[in-house]
Order: sequence, then C-alpha cells, then structure tokens
Amino acid sequence: MAGLSKSVLLVACCCLCFLSVSSLIERLEHPVKDDGSLSFMVIGDWGRKGKYNQSQVALQMGRVSERLNIDFVICTGDNFYDDGLTSVNDPAFEKSFSKIYTAKSLQKQWYNVLGNHDYRGNVEAQLDPILGSIDRRWICKRSFIVNTEIAEFFFIDTTPFVDKYFLNPKDHTYDWRGVLPRKDYLSKLLKDLELALQDSTANWKIVVGHHTIKSIGHHGDTKELARQLLPILEENNVDLYINGHDHCLQHMSSTSSQIQFLTSGGGSKAWKGDFDELNRKGTKFYYDGQGFMSVELEQSNAKIVFYDIFGKRLHVLDLFKGVYSAM
Ligand SMILES: *[C@@H]1O[C@H](CO)[C@@H](O)[C@H](O)[C@H]1NC(C)=O
Repeated sequence: MAGLSKSVLLVACCCLCFLSVSSLIERLEHPVKDDGSLSFMVIGDWGRKGKYNQSQVALQMGRVSERLNIDFVICTGDNFYDDGLTSVNDPAFEKSFSKIYTAKSLQKQWYNVLGNHDYRGNVEAQLDPILGSIDRRWICKRSFIVNTEIAEFFFIDTTPFVDKYFLNPKDHTYDWRGVLPRKDYLSKLLKDLELALQDSTANWKIVVGHHTIKSIGHHGDTKELARQLLPILEENNVDLYINGHDHCLQHMSSTSSQIQFLTSGGGSKAWKGDFDELNRKGTKFYYDGQGFMSVELEQSNAKIVFYDIFGKRLHVLDLFKGVYSAM
C-alpha cells in the first residue's frame, strides 16, 4: 500500500515537473547578415492558387526581395483557402505555395503561423515536417520563437483565443486536436510567452499572430487578444505586433505604449470595402487592397514599407531605437 502510494506520488511529481518545464513555444535560430542586419517580407491571407492577384503579389514580392536580399519570409496565417489542407498530399500546397512564390529571392525559409481558415482543415497536416521535404522553405508551428542576433520573433497561435469559433461551431468545423482543454492551453501559452518575453534580451521584440489586436478593417479588434495578450506585450516593451486576418495593409499605433500594429493580410482576396473609423486615434495608414510588407532591421533603426501589387510604395514607417547607456 505504502509502496503504491509512493510510486503514484512520484509519477504525479514527474508529470508536474514536466508540465512546468516544457514550453508550448519551441525555439529556433536564424543567422543575421554579415553586417548584423536583417531583412524580411511579411505576407498574409494568401493561398488561392494564384487567383485574386495572389500571383501579382508574389511577382512584386520577388522583385523587392531581390533588392533587399531578404533573409526569410513571415506569413501571418490563412495559408490555404477556404479550409486549410486536407492532408500532406493536398495539391493545394504546391498550387498555392510552391508554384506561386517561385522567384529566386524567395527561396528562403518561410515561417508560418496558422489562421482560422487553416484550422478548418487538417491542422496536423500543415504542421507536419514532411511538408518540408516537398518544399524545404516551409516551417509551420503553432507557437515558436525565432531568435536572431538583432531581434527575437515570437509567433503565437491566436485562433484558439477567439470565442466565436467555439460558440458557433455549426458554421464551420475546426480541428482543435492539440489545443484542448482550451482554458489550460491558453493560460499555459500566455504564461510561456510572458516568461520568454521577460527572458529576452533582444534589441527588437516582434510578435506575430494571425488575428488583429487593433484594426479598423472588416474584422476590427480581436477583443480576446486586446484583453489577454496585449497587456503582456506592452509590459515587455514589444516593438511590433504583426498580423493578418483583415485583408488589407494597415499601420496603427498605440495610444498607451510604443507598440506598432502592422497588418499584412493582402496576399490575395481583398477590397472588402467595409472599413470605417478612418479617423480613429492611432490610424497611420490603411489600404483596402492587395499587397505586402517589407521590414529592414538594424541595431538602432527599422524601416517598414507597404507595397501594392505593382510594387509601388504606399507607406513607410521609420523607427529609431535610442542607445541606452548603462548608468
Ligand atoms: C487586382 O488588383 C487591381 C489593382 O489593385 C484591382 O483593381 C483589381 O480589382 C484586383 N483584382 C481582384 C480580383 O481583386
């Protein structure tokens, strides 16, 4: 009896230790350029087999990427419309990805998060490393960190935060394998993110998720993220929150912190036309059409540019980070 309860106790302890030690956020490393700088593209809401100007966006992205000699591409989710991938053999993977982004300059690592449309398909397929053997650029995980010498990128799985996908599941079916029980998953994810941000010594801290936090677009703010995620980002001096979900290009600033909200969701279908509040406080730029975004990072400067499908620059944001001297 005593022996049994002892071993039960031991197993329970091990489980607890394991839970508190292992993080939901996997860590990856990416090298910077020889001069210590980094440049990358950001695109979102794209996979439509070339339709809705997806191919035109890809073409211009390739040209700008060549000029900037980019290091990688960040995707803000909704990778395959309408319902994600059916399996790792789904031809949409090549028709919407490999055969579209063909420029030499785009043959770099692609870091992808999942959007709500991806959750409508077979999520495990998009996360399967076997896709990397079909196209070696592909990396998709729920939540992960990409550490570079100059910046740390925190990719966050935002879809499970949104109540309505759970409240009205009759509209669509979602593949929630791996994120249930929901409450435990979300609280652990937030805790793991907070710890990682607190530990980060990176000069630039950049968070990427599919859903908006602050947006004047069709979907508007995601109130669950504004309530649960934003306070953690602000407390930890995050510089940029980058998202998709609204099919537009957008720059909003915060009224309470340094954080800049950047939407790059113009990878294919756009022109929703139902934005409002153009005079909302913090609105710096809004474009209701297709396009993409580039980011160039140096130790004390960041340059962010939005482009339309002709490669024309629509908006430029220059950020400067002061040099802090030790007292
Ligand atoms: C493609 O882009 C052009 C130029 O922005 C726009 O006029 C046109 O409506 C777009 N086509 C679609 C299907 O969105």
